Formats: sequence, structure tokens, C-alpha cells
Amino acid sequence: MVDRSAFGAKTTADEVLDGIDLSGTSVLITGGTSGLGAETARAMAAKGAEVTITARTEAKGQATVDQIKASAGKTISVEALELGSAKSVRAFAERINSGDRKIDLLINNAGIMACAEATTEDGFEMQFGTNHLGHFLMTCLIAPSLADGGRVVILSSSAHQMSDVMFDDIDMKKGGYERWKSYGQSKTANALFAVELNKRLAVRNIEVFSVHPGVIGTGLTKHLRIRDFLMFIPLMLTGAVKRKSVPAGAATQCFAGTAPEIAGRGGSFLADCKIAEISPEKKRDMTVVWPYAIDPEAAERLWSLSEDLLGEKFAQL
Ligand SMILES: NC(=O)c1ccc[n+]([C@@H]2O[C@H](COP(=O)([O-])OP(=O)(O)OC[C@H]3O[C@@H](n4cnc5c(N)ncnc54)[C@H](OP(=O)(O)O)[C@@H]3O)[C@@H](O)[C@H]2O)c1
Repeated sequence: MVDRSAFGAKTTADEVLDGIDLSGTSVLITGGTSGLGAETARAMAAKGAEVTITARTEAKGQATVDQIKASAGKTISVEALELGSAKSVRAFAERINSGDRKIDLLINNAGIMACAEATTEDGFEMQFGTNHLGHFLMTCLIAPSLADGGRVVILSSSAHQMSDVMFDDIDMKKGGYERWKSYGQSKTANALFAVELNKRLAVRNIEVFSVHPGVIGTGLTKHLRIRDFLMFIPLMLTGAVKRKSVPAGAATQCFAGTAPEIAGRGGSFLADCKIAEISPEKKRDMTVVWPYAIDPEAAERLWSLSEDLLGEKFAQL
């Protein structure tokens, strides 16, 4: 049996789930075709969970499912979802809500990072539109299918320290588009969404957590340029940035989704399999959360803004 009190940066998804029986637990993971989502799906399926991943292309989704079935041999399925398209999100939600399955654990994992300026199918700035708005719409629409007493885990990042939500310039038209600032804004939005969603789902005893998984070499780096990689070298040499393996990267979201230790702490931001320290002095440290990313007033304001942008109110979930 693993020593749970020793969990930290090097703990893996399998170690977090050691001794935890997920049979009969229904898990939905967005963006399960690579990186942290695929590893989380594998580790949870191996513990008996009934896992559904989402994929943008059928071939990629099926390939991941086949791979996981071959290694974990468990129940896993795939659903099509493009978060940059409200039409795709709505069709996905209809399929999920039409079944009788209740989701015990939803992991909003899909994401893109530091892409060139672009817009989603619905005209929203690409990173905010995909990482936040797509997940916001999806989660609100499938809320009836979430099991009372379950959990929601939202992948944020220490990159929240790169930008607060720019409420007066959400699409970055006034200040000009910056790839990293845009990613930072979207990751702050992810953490704020966890705070407000946790508040709204409290009546159903559903707890919501946000997570910084670490720094892990995954498909997320596909938009990076040479100068981005060069930016990381000094940070790695000084130890300010420590790379994790994919199994260690997936550990914190597995912990947030299952750990009994954090029951009652919904709305919290986690890093390295722990509730992160809040840093009022805005310490540049990947394991801390800055106050603006968990501010309840900003979380409420983001909820209203998201509803306004999508043209739909979600008063009751
Ligand atoms: N890796 C890190 O160092 C790190 C650090 C901090 C936070 N995170 C967060 O962790 C999460 C998982 O990232 P990862 O590292 O595992 O990245 P990844 O390997 O690139 O996986 C991202 C997943 O999201 C999917 N996705 C991307 N755009 C989508 C869209 N428009 N609609 C639906 N699905 C979409 C991808 O599908 P396709 O394969 O079709 O593109 C893929 O399955 C992200 O939210 C990321 O921001 C990662």
C-alpha cells in the first residue's frame, strides 16, 4: 500500500489510485486522445471505472480506446466533441443526456496552448473559446447527467500567473493578441469556473476542483516555437521549472477526482497532489495559486460574462 501522506510531484496516477476501487464509477474525460487525458483514462479504467473519453476525430478516439482496452482491458468508449463549436457541444450534450448513465466524475481536461491568433467556429478568441467557453457550455448542458455527490475536475495551469481574466478586453482586440497572455487568461478562467461551479453544485453535493498538473511534454506543445523552448531552458536549469513524466502529470487530476482527503474542500486549486498554497504576494512558483484565480467575485462575474457571450442563462444546474 502506498503512503498517501508522501504524495507529491513525482507521484504517478497509478500510485494515487492504488487501493481505490472505481468499479461502478462512471468517468467522462474531455480530450482523452493524448497526454494527460489518455493516461488518466487508462489509469481509471484499470481500476474498474467505466470511462468515456472525447475526441475530435473518430480515428484518433478509437485508436486511444483500442490501446487502453489492450492494456487495461476495461470498459471504455469514445464520444465526438469539438469544444470550439457550440453546435458540436450541444450535439454531444444531447447524446450524454439522452442516456440513463449518471457521471460520477467529469474531468474537463482538453486544451490548447499558445496558438497563433485565431477564432473558434463561433467567433470567440481560440484559447478562451476552447479552454473555457466550450467547457463552460458543455458542463452546464450536461449538468443534469452529473451524479449527485460526484466530482468535477477542471484542468487549469500555473500559467494562470501569466494573466488575470481581462473582463474589458476578453478577445484581446484592444490590447493586441499575445499567445501566452491568452493562454494565461483561459487558465485563470478555468480556475474561476471551478470556484463558481462548486458554489452552484453544492446543493447537489457535487464538489469541483481545479488543477495544475505540472510541466509535461505532451501534444500541448504543438504550437510552440523554438523561442518558446529556449525560454524554458534557463527556468529548467535553475529548477524553477521541473518536468514531469506523463504518469506523474496525470496524478493530480486523478487525486482531485478521487481522494477522500480533500472532501469538503471543493473550489480549491491543486498542484502536486495537494491543495495549493494561496500566494497573496504573487510568488512565481508553479505550485501556488494567485488570489485572482480563486476570487469568488471574479468567478461570479466570469459566469455572467460567459452566459452573455453564449446567449444562454444557466440559473439552475
Ligand atoms: N502538459 C502540460 O505541461 C500542462 C501544464 C499545465 C496545464 N495543462 C493542461 O492539461 C490539459 C491536458 O493537456 P495535455 O498536456 O494532455 O495536452 P494534449 O496532449 O495536447 O491533450 C489535449 C487534448 O485536448 C484535445 N483538444 C484540443 N483542442 C480541442 C478542441 N477544440 N475540442 C476538443 N478537444 C480538444 C486534444 O485533441 P486533439 O488530439 O484532437 O488535438 C487532446 O485530446 C490541458 O487543459 C492543458 O492546458 C497541461
